Amino acid sequence: MLVLGIESSCDETGVALYGSDGDGGLLAHALYSQVRMHAEYGGVVPELASRDHIGRLVPLLRQVLAASGRSLTAIDAVAYTQGPGLAGALLVGAAFAEALATALALPTVPVHHLEGHLLSPLLSARPPRFPFVALLVSGGHSQLMRVTGVGEYALLGETLDDAAGEAFDKTAKLLGLGYPGGPALAALADSGRPGRVKLPRPMLRSGDLDFSFSGLKTAVLTRVRELGTLDDEQRADIACGFQEAIVEVLVSKALRAVKAAGLQQLVVAGGVGANRELRRQLDARAARARIDVFYPELEFCTDNGAMIALAGALRLQAGVAGKEPGAFAVRPRWPLTDA
Ligand code: KG4
Ligand code: ZN
Repeated sequence: MLVLGIESSCDETGVALYGSDGDGGLLAHALYSQVRMHAEYGGVVPELASRDHIGRLVPLLRQVLAASGRSLTAIDAVAYTQGPGLAGALLVGAAFAEALATALALPTVPVHHLEGHLLSPLLSARPPRFPFVALLVSGGHSQLMRVTGVGEYALLGETLDDAAGEAFDKTAKLLGLGYPGGPALAALADSGRPGRVKLPRPMLRSGDLDFSFSGLKTAVLTRVRELGTLDDEQRADIACGFQEAIVEVLVSKALRAVKAAGLQQLVVAGGVGANRELRRQLDARAARARIDVFYPELEFCTDNGAMIALAGALRLQAGVAGKEPGAFAVRPRWPLTDA
């Protein structure tokens, strides 16, 4: 069964074709990132994002069909991100997917964006098996979930304020780095000296599996104000101290969640999952705790169409019926446990 996947929840347009049930797995995928357009404004401008998605979808679809050697008539279902995300951006992808499916008389599968993220490690050569604990760390969310199967997600803990990616982005801004801040901050941290700048580890010993990152950002702001003008070395040391703090909290809580759930597998998904230091620390500490850690391929850590095509295919495989094409609604705010 061939499922077309459409992702347009934020600033990336993704299209992919996934073949389930022996139909070849991920056949092709294409992505367009709007990063350069938004960089000028220091963050995502929702209206510009929506307009840009409109112009990208048809060329990306053509690219995916050409790369996979399949025609539109070979597609069996169209999956798309229904939410959460920017309302206008979601509407573009949803309208495109529903219109295409109507023209081809195919069912559609509205997908939860975070479900796409947390299933994305299943696209790797070494996929995890259900059940597992997922650490979802993106620009908009930081959650620990117990995943028993497709569509079976129980929330174990989540951030009480900023998401991990948001903390990276806001701290990057404080240090004068451009958008998107996460990768830039991580790169700067590499040249900083570990242990030089000590920052708080929020809620490390809170006894639950929740996170809070806004205090960490404030601690950086206080440090920046104390120092006045920063030289390159000081900025790198602060970046390094920030990364050490956030990574320690994420790693400790994720491993604690796996143990509390009585499981041995941890899946890390979402943009912050691309962070090298997070991966290094997790691998080291998980190995000691005999916990197996699974990551999506780097290209599938951040938003993409492949994870949406996969989630759609797995939903259909699990017996969740696709809907009739046509009428649709988007869900800019949508808890994963309701998906
Ligand atoms: O999953 P994603 O692409 O989009 C959302 O669904 O939010 O995640 C984007 C987030 C941004 O906050 C970005 O700064 C962060 O992931 N990010 C990183 C890295 N790469 C992306 N944060 C830290 N280190 C990275 N290497
Ligand atoms: Zn995402």
